[in-house]
Amino acid sequence: MTNAAAPATDVPDRSGYPLHVAIIMDGNGRWAAARGLPRAEGHRRGVEALRRVVRAAHELGIVYLTIFSFSSENWSRPATEIGDLFGLLRRFIRNDLAELHGNNVRVRVIGERDDLDPEIRRLLEEAEELTGANDGLVLVVAFNYGARDEIARAARRIAQDVARGILKPEDVTEELIGARLDAADLADPDLIIRTSGEQRRSNVLLWQAAYAELVFTPLYWPDFDRAALEQAIDEYRRRERRFGGLVARTRS
Ligand code: FPP
Repeated sequence: MTNAAAPATDVPDRSGYPLHVAIIMDGNGRWAAARGLPRAEGHRRGVEALRRVVRAAHELGIVYLTIFSFSSENWSRPATEIGDLFGLLRRFIRNDLAELHGNNVRVRVIGERDDLDPEIRRLLEEAEELTGANDGLVLVVAFNYGARDEIARAARRIAQDVARGILKPEDVTEELIGARLDAADLADPDLIIRTSGEQRRSNVLLWQAAYAELVFTPLYWPDFDRAALEQAIDEYRRRERRFGGLVARTRS
C-alpha cells in the first residue's frame, strides 16, 4: 500500500526544466592536444560524449536537444579534418540510428543541404524519414549550419514570394520570418551550453535564441557527461527569466 502523504523522494523535481537545450560542442582539438593525440581522436571521443549526452537528455526528459556538429565556418579547416568530421557523421548515422530509433528519438537536421555531398544528404534525409514518426526526444543535428546563412536563406525565400505576389511586404512579421527558418516547428532554445571555456555564441540560432540562457563550462567536449549536463541545467533553473518584462516567467 502506498502512503499518499509520504514525500516522493525517488521522483526528481523537474520543475523549471528547459524544454530545449542546445550544445556547442567545443574543445575536441584541445582535449586531444593536451594528451598528445591527433585531433581526429578528440573528435572520435567527442562522438562518445555525444552518445552519453543524448542518452542523458532522453532520461532527463528534455524535449529538444540541438547539437552543432559542423558549422558553415568549419569549411575553413584543413581538408583532412573536414573529411574526419564527415566520416564521423556518416558512422554516427550508420551505427547509432537504429538505437536512436529504438529509443523513440526523432532526428531533425538544420543547415544548408544543397551544397552537401549527395551521399551525406541522403543519409541525413534517411535519418529524418526513419525517425519522423517518433515522439520522444527530438535530436536536432545542426550540420553545415550557420545562423546568418539560415536567416539569409529565409529572407531570400520571403523576397521570392513577395516578388511573385504571394506575399505583401506588410505580411513580413517576426512570426513569418520565424516560420521560414530551418525546423521552424521547434520550440526556441531555453538553454545554450558551450564547452571548453569559450564564451561566445558563434553564429548559432541567432534568431531563435533571443532569450536563451547561456551556460559556459570549462570542460572540453569529450569530458562532458550527464553530471555536467545536470549541473548546467541546475544553473539554468537558478536564473530568473523575464523576457524583457518585469516578472519572472518560465516560458515566452
Ligand atoms: C569543436 O572542437 C567540435 C567540432 C568542430 C565538431 C563537433 C563534432 C563532434 C563532437 C564529432 C562529430 C559528431 C557528429 C555527429 C558529426 P574543435 O575542433 O573546435 O576543438 P578546439 O577548439 O579545441 O580545436
